[in-house]
Amino acid sequence: LREHEEFTKVKNIATIELGRYEIETWYFSPFPPEYNDCLRLYFCEFCLNFMKRKEQLQRHMRKCDLKHPPGDEIYRSGTLSMFEVDGKKNKVYGQNLCYLAKLFLDHKTLYYDVDLFLFYVLCECDDRGCHMVGYFSKEKHSEESYNLACILTLPPYQRKGYGKFLIAFSYELSKKESKVGTPERPLSDLGLLSYRGYWTRVLLDILKKHKGNISIKELSDMTAIKAEDILTTLQSLELIQYRKGQHVICADPKVLDRHLKAAGRGGLEVDVSKLIWTPYK
Ligand code: ACO
Ligand code: ZN
Repeated sequence: LREHEEFTKVKNIATIELGRYEIETWYFSPFPPEYNDCLRLYFCEFCLNFMKRKEQLQRHMRKCDLKHPPGDEIYRSGTLSMFEVDGKKNKVYGQNLCYLAKLFLDHKTLYYDVDLFLFYVLCECDDRGCHMVGYFSKEKHSEESYNLACILTLPPYQRKGYGKFLIAFSYELSKKESKVGTPERPLSDLGLLSYRGYWTRVLLDILKKHKGNISIKELSDMTAIKAEDILTTLQSLELIQYRKGQHVICADPKVLDRHLKAAGRGGLEVDVSKLIWTPYK
């Protein structure tokens, strides 16, 4: 899916340095005008402040005392940690994260109103600190039952299962809120692939256990996946028939096994026992 880069609009920043990575950007991001003449930006990997020159970053790193995102650590399993950052309490961090994310997100509008969002930042931690792998944002209150606004895995970490981990995490939060959720639309093609993959695996696992004797409503209650998303996923797998005005799940075990094999690896699991979190009020 490299053709992404070719659709790129007038790109300002072509490369960023973040932690130990140099990353080519994908899309335009509306950095403040004083950065218009920059091809390369240097990010502090912890507070996400960005600078024009490497020497500025080096000076910054000597005095920046953050070693992880500025928020509560709500999950830790092995070297993986998740931090919850409140956009209202950490406005500059939230804005910096949005500028950074927009470099890899095409049709998302940038929210300056970071107050209304929580940011869930996934990190790989070592003795030097907690290094951001990716994140998702979530509205504090969503009328449309969105449980995720934007999701990003930084390019050096992509295709290793972190995206599905972030998606799974967003549904674990919805389960704790006793709500169903769905990602904000539109989805990018990579976003749709990742969601389709996640929905398929989760639903097939349950259908296999229950030998298909389960309704869409029950599936939705168990997974926090919105009924419409369950329906479109099962339809795309041709597991739905329409009988007497009703959608019926037809889960032939052989068909399930075939789909499960095609669905590939499960990826990184969220260990719910390691999530310490109460819903935002
Ligand atoms: N080519 C083909 N399939 C891919 C690719 C790719 N380059 N990347 C991901 N996929 C598909 C695969 O099916 C993959 O599962 P598999 O590896 O088991 O086959 C599945 O997506 C998920 O892969 P992960 O490794 O779990 O996901 P990743 O960490 O790469 O993150 C994400 C996925 C977040 C969409 C990432 O590609 C990204 O950040 N893209 C740029 C930003 C973006 O488009 N975000 C979504 C916008 S929509 C929204 O925000 C609501
Ligand atoms: Zn810093």
